[in-house]
Amino acid sequence: MKAIVVTDQAAGTAGMRLVERPEPQASINDVIVRIHASGFVPTEMEWPSTWTDRAGRDKTPSIPGHELAGVVTALGYGTTGLSVGQRVFGLADWHRDGTLAEYVAIEARNLAPLPGDVDFTVGASLPISGLTAWQGLFQHGRLQSGQSVLAHGAAGAVGTMVTQLAREAGAYVVGTGRAGDREKALDFGAHEFVDLENDALEDVGDVDLVFDVIGGDVQKRSAALVKTGGTLVSIVGPAEARPAEGLAVDFVVEADRAELGEIVRRVRDGRLRTNIGDVSTLDDAVAALNPTERRKGKTVIRVRP
Ligand SMILES: NC(=O)c1ccc[n+]([C@@H]2O[C@H](COP(=O)([O-])OP(=O)(O)OC[C@H]3O[C@@H](n4cnc5c(N)ncnc54)[C@H](OP(=O)(O)O)[C@@H]3O)[C@@H](O)[C@H]2O)c1
Repeated sequence: MKAIVVTDQAAGTAGMRLVERPEPQASINDVIVRIHASGFVPTEMEWPSTWTDRAGRDKTPSIPGHELAGVVTALGYGTTGLSVGQRVFGLADWHRDGTLAEYVAIEARNLAPLPGDVDFTVGASLPISGLTAWQGLFQHGRLQSGQSVLAHGAAGAVGTMVTQLAREAGAYVVGTGRAGDREKALDFGAHEFVDLENDALEDVGDVDLVFDVIGGDVQKRSAALVKTGGTLVSIVGPAEARPAEGLAVDFVVEADRAELGEIVRRVRDGRLRTNIGDVSTLDDAVAALNPTERRKGKTVIRVRP
């Protein structure tokens, strides 16, 4: 099969190559998925799991990409709940070969059915950004209707999902980002927008939940805005500053079939829009994943036309 591989951490995405690899075999509880579309997070090159297996052994050349939408072609021993020919989407294991390839071996529990009226490109854009937003807001942030959310990077892949899901849940959403992100953040549902390069973050006042996708100084200043009993949720590593009277939580997104179902249901009925930028073929994926201009949204690789 065709696959994108990386071998050199220092080279980052520039070190990606399109190669021929053997098709994967299904282990116990796996399915094999013929991938139609694949999603990629640019920071994958910094994750240890891109380079080693769980025992810390070098696993290069490794196939990056952890989001997929496709069709099940084979079941491993003991696999239940999915069938051959079924459309699926989901989140691949961090430590196994990923989804920038024509096929992937993946545990069935990491997948959910993809309804027939949802395009594979849309399906592949949802798992990481959708699940991260869902888990950060509702599991870790315990968001309630009527509360306020400071959604950093509100025009980004995760931020657009955070904004929409928080607003649907009845929260007041303050989005942040660069000056040029204002219109997009408001279009995805933020009630107001703070330009982090020109506005004073402190003018936002106290909030119940900070959803941090940036870290560093922005995170430290945001911690001071968390109300008593509120939460600073970070997806970019442990909080460097903690709210005085609140919680600080950092987490890594996990696959969850029921939550994937909630997310795709909202996409089908128009409550949730994805933030897709460039769509490229697998043959052109190396160039697409090394853009010369700022990305307009999430890059999706359409593996099969
Ligand atoms: N823990 C987890 O489970 C998890 C899951 C998903 C993602 N992540 C991480 O979360 C981060 C965001 O992911 P994403 O996919 O949403 O990325 P993204 O699509 O690039 O969105 C991030 C947004 O924040 C903006 N931004 C970054 N730094 C900024 C700053 N200093 N001032 C103003 N705006 C700033 C970015 O603008 P620019 O593009 O101009 O920088 C972009 O619009 C990444 O580091 C990713 O690795 C973690």
